[in-house]
Amino acid sequence: MKIESKITEAVKAIVEELYGQQVPDSMVQLQQTRPEFEGQITIVVFPFTRMSHKAPDATAMEIGERLVERLPEVVSKFNAVKGFLNLSISSRQWIEMLQDIYANPKFGFTPVTDHSPLVMIEYSSPNTNKPLHLGHVRNNLLGWALAQVMEANGNKVVKTNIVNDRGIHICKSMLAWLKWGNGETPETSGKKGDHLIGDYYVAFDKHYREEVKELMAQGMDEEQAKQEAPLIKEAHEMLVKWEQNDPEVRGLWRQMNEWVYAGFDETYKALGVSFDKIYYESETYLEGKEKVEEGLAKGLFYRRDDGSVWADLTKEGLDEKLLLRSDGTSVYMTQDIGTAKLRFQDYPIDKMIYVVGNEQNYHFQVLSILLDKLGFKWGKDLVHFSYGMVELPNGKMKSREGTVVDADDLIATMIQDAKELSADKVNKLEGISEQEAQEIARIVGMGALKYFILKVDARKNMLFNPEESIDFNGNTGPFIQYTYARIRSILRKAGGVPSVALSTQQTELAEKEISLIQRLQGFETAVRQAGQDYNPSCIANYCYDLVKEYNQFYHDFSVLHEEDEKKRHLRIVLSAAVGQVVKNGMGLLGIEVPERM
Ligand code: ARG
Repeated sequence: MKIESKITEAVKAIVEELYGQQVPDSMVQLQQTRPEFEGQITIVVFPFTRMSHKAPDATAMEIGERLVERLPEVVSKFNAVKGFLNLSISSRQWIEMLQDIYANPKFGFTPVTDHSPLVMIEYSSPNTNKPLHLGHVRNNLLGWALAQVMEANGNKVVKTNIVNDRGIHICKSMLAWLKWGNGETPETSGKKGDHLIGDYYVAFDKHYREEVKELMAQGMDEEQAKQEAPLIKEAHEMLVKWEQNDPEVRGLWRQMNEWVYAGFDETYKALGVSFDKIYYESETYLEGKEKVEEGLAKGLFYRRDDGSVWADLTKEGLDEKLLLRSDGTSVYMTQDIGTAKLRFQDYPIDKMIYVVGNEQNYHFQVLSILLDKLGFKWGKDLVHFSYGMVELPNGKMKSREGTVVDADDLIATMIQDAKELSADKVNKLEGISEQEAQEIARIVGMGALKYFILKVDARKNMLFNPEESIDFNGNTGPFIQYTYARIRSILRKAGGVPSVALSTQQTELAEKEISLIQRLQGFETAVRQAGQDYNPSCIANYCYDLVKEYNQFYHDFSVLHEEDEKKRHLRIVLSAAVGQVVKNGMGLLGIEVPERM
């Protein structure tokens, strides 16, 4: 039984003995003892003063005395401070706790069963006309971490992606490629497919802008010029042909999308993310139209004179929302309705989480209401996991266009930086091959990037600073990874973790050892909190606190050189347990930890 449960039970019995009243579990409020007081677990005594008719401290004292009598193996000492009863828990209990934590490789995680709720998490969701950028990096890292956190909280998780593969944006790239591409392919150009397509998108824009300028010079106003430019007209014609299933347009579209997906896959792999099911807008937008027609027939929506279809959300305090244009074509919202329909057909979804930037807050507010009206049971409570912008400090890694930070460039730079920074250290590691050095650089570079982004509250805008992120000291991924590698090195030197059970009898623990075990126990709470609040940064900050505390312990105590065998043994297990929890915690964030670095 957990220490907390033993105490709760004993306190209930004592209150009944002393005051003749039965109290519910919830009345026994336990907290972690504040650092300025002696003890580890604190009972809030105020609720019992009404029954004792005594002052808070006197009440605390009499409960404390009985507790020590009743649970001598658990509570070794107590003190009362202003209605708070601080308990010192015996070393023996902490050692048992440590034993339990170490024996459970999944400590802190709730197992997933057949009856677990199904949570679908959508993240990434790129458009197919350009490569992934820094914003997508934040999205992908958050989405992946959130999926791990939800699973660790006992949910079945389906990771999904909606690829916006259709529409005018991709036609622009296609048209530019036809005009100026000379049949160029990823193979002939040596470019990643997504970059190739992105370059043609940029080329389209450049020529288009020139045409607009030209028309304006001839006296046309800007609005009209933007519509009349031959290039945009041609792109629109192409979109119409696409919708009509024109074989040539569709063939080219398929070919170019394949290139893009191959490129995306490389980036996803480098980021360490994946999906269980990918949806494509080209396959969902017609479903969306159908759903809207259905809603129209049910009187949920209305048609205007020009034929366009709208939802009136003024009763909900929002405005009127276009669902189908007058020419019958669909809009972004229509696609999302269709995608929801397919997803719901494919999975028994209990909760749907969309990881999408906060510039789409309004879109998801509307989507939630529309899905609810259309009868999706998870529509009303859909979660828009809305995250803030991420930028690099000025002047760093601006792309060709000068605005966007390319994801592949960023990843390569992080790994290169890690390699250069750790070159000295790595060389000192004996017998390390070039291949292993490269692998360590990858783990550390990616760890720096991921941790720096994930330690921040997702809702906040943030600045990603590569130099700061890769620092081996402070609240960084590499600092945590380094501590892990140090623990692994200790365990290697110890020849592994002793397999005999810890002696719970004869070892008195020092304060620092106790607080470290208590910190380990806190992993459970951190995982739960992260799941309840949809907040992976809880896990990041927990890992940092744990590692800081371990380093203090390691600084103050010897592990391998401790003469007392029982103590040495315990400290080795303690180190191993910290390593295990760090690895699991960082794993929830999608961050690997190296055996050496
Ligand atoms: N592809 C869209 C964009 O780049 C994001 C899609 C978000 N997901 C959704 N279900 N609407 O803006």
